[in-house]
Amino acid sequence: MRSLFLTICLVAFAAFASTAQSYNQLWIPDTLSGTEFNLTIRDTFAQLVPGNQTITGGINGKFWGPTLFFNKGDVVHMNVLNKLNEATTLHWHGFHLPAVMDGGPHQVIPPGTLWQPYWEVTNNASTYWYHPHLHEETMAHITKGIGGLIIVRDAEEAALPLPRTYGVDDIPLALTDRDFNTQNQFVEVPYGDSMMVNGTLRAKTSVPAQVVRFRVLNGAIERSYNIGFSDNRSFYVICSDGGLLNAPVPLTRYLLHAGERVEILVNFSGQSGQLVDLKAFNSTLAQNVPGGDLFPNGPFANYLARKDFNMLHINVTAQTANAITAIPSALKTNVLLNAADANITRKLSIIDSMGVTNPPILGGVAFVINHKLFDINYNQYNVPLGNTEIWEIKSTSNFGHPFHIHDVEFNILSVNGVAPTAAQAGWKDVVFVPANQTVRFIARFEDYADALHPFMYHCHISLHEDEGMMGQFVVTSASATNEPETKPDFSIFPNPATDRIFVKMDDPEAAIYYLKIMDAVGRVKLMLPQPQLSGGVDISKFTPGTYFVQITEQATKKVLTQKFVKQ
Ligand code: C2O
Ligand code: CU
Ligand code: CU
Repeated sequence: MRSLFLTICLVAFAAFASTAQSYNQLWIPDTLSGTEFNLTIRDTFAQLVPGNQTITGGINGKFWGPTLFFNKGDVVHMNVLNKLNEATTLHWHGFHLPAVMDGGPHQVIPPGTLWQPYWEVTNNASTYWYHPHLHEETMAHITKGIGGLIIVRDAEEAALPLPRTYGVDDIPLALTDRDFNTQNQFVEVPYGDSMMVNGTLRAKTSVPAQVVRFRVLNGAIERSYNIGFSDNRSFYVICSDGGLLNAPVPLTRYLLHAGERVEILVNFSGQSGQLVDLKAFNSTLAQNVPGGDLFPNGPFANYLARKDFNMLHINVTAQTANAITAIPSALKTNVLLNAADANITRKLSIIDSMGVTNPPILGGVAFVINHKLFDINYNQYNVPLGNTEIWEIKSTSNFGHPFHIHDVEFNILSVNGVAPTAAQAGWKDVVFVPANQTVRFIARFEDYADALHPFMYHCHISLHEDEGMMGQFVVTSASATNEPETKPDFSIFPNPATDRIFVKMDDPEAAIYYLKIMDAVGRVKLMLPQPQLSGGVDISKFTPGTYFVQITEQATKKVLTQKFVKQ
């Protein structure tokens, strides 16, 4: 009898040991809060799989970065130090801020350079994120693991009975997938074979037996995740990209696309001891939804395509003190934008590039917005400050694309003529444009007119974005001192330069009234009224990096800007 008991115990232990071994404890990113944030981006390595370590990119750590807590109304100052051996950028996805602080493709941070953007947090309480955005390198830099979450708190959200103990009943889940080669190194491909949550493979976590909030980010290069639970339980969507919904929306599935965030509540009350898996129910995805296509071979072939797979193994444990045990019935009263107030409807197109041969596109097929591949010197739109605009995106692409715009949060008006579902009827900054459908959204462009620095709109599939599925707009105001960047009609040489630059107007009749040199975040370094330029401009004291020469033309007072690099 006794030996039988022992045998049962041993068998039970062996089963337990093998289960325990097949999961890794979910990593919860560290937190930073206050108003000054130090973020150091570096190449490093991490023990992600047994054997060789993986070369990764991290922010203040080995993979991914800290979760930043902002309070609405604070002015936050970022000290972003690029310790990579190459240039990058860091973009504050979802934030309403001056374009020059945005961290898009124009705010290049050279290696070794400290970039110090700052802005007032005006965004609603929600989950945002930060990630690199260097044109043609976004996929590479995100693949390394560079990025992190931002949680904004505000008074309205703080007054609600919602879970908010980070890592306990308020759990961040950054979803992505990666492909490893036989040396355990990341392969730069749009779809990975291995699911990762917060950089953890085969992640497991414990949650208390109460209402738990998950802040879910789709941080993948391309894949969408059709999230749900293995027991098909209901969860409650409380927050879309840019803020709380009016009321929790009960669902059993939510299809989350690249770049999107969603906050959900799950009630584990009375379920202590239960096990449940958070899964991607991707077997139901259509072929034209990212992750739904089966590629038998080639760079898109991947083990997770069109199948259901586990993302997080959840073990329900004892309730904590002061637990939230009920889902609130209401959250807030959103005042959404009204189509009748729009000043303009802008019509955008998404097409497949088959047949676009100039410039040739990676792999022969890419996707194009407004029939034009990204050009960093071309602004598609001038948006007058204060405009309320409808953006109507008509896709004739045979693939779906998550469309993202900088500067604003918007409200979806319709997807193929149909009003958005309750979970999508709030503030958004990414909207999925299904294959061959039309999406309309409305946004108001307030604050921060700056004709020199554009904002981006693009597909949030990093591969598509890098291939040129991106455009830009400037927000302008009549009272702004600068005007839209038109054609470059002066030149700087040499560029890159070390000691001295020469500035020459293309038109020999034109003269320079004023010349300023600004650094990458717009700080004026040099101001030269009516300059004598024959000897060039001394830049030998400048630290290496990207600078802007802004000139005001004598006769027209037209303001023109050119970029140069000091080595
Ligand atoms: Cu999350 Cu322009 O990007
Ligand atoms: Cu963004
Ligand atoms: Cu796309």
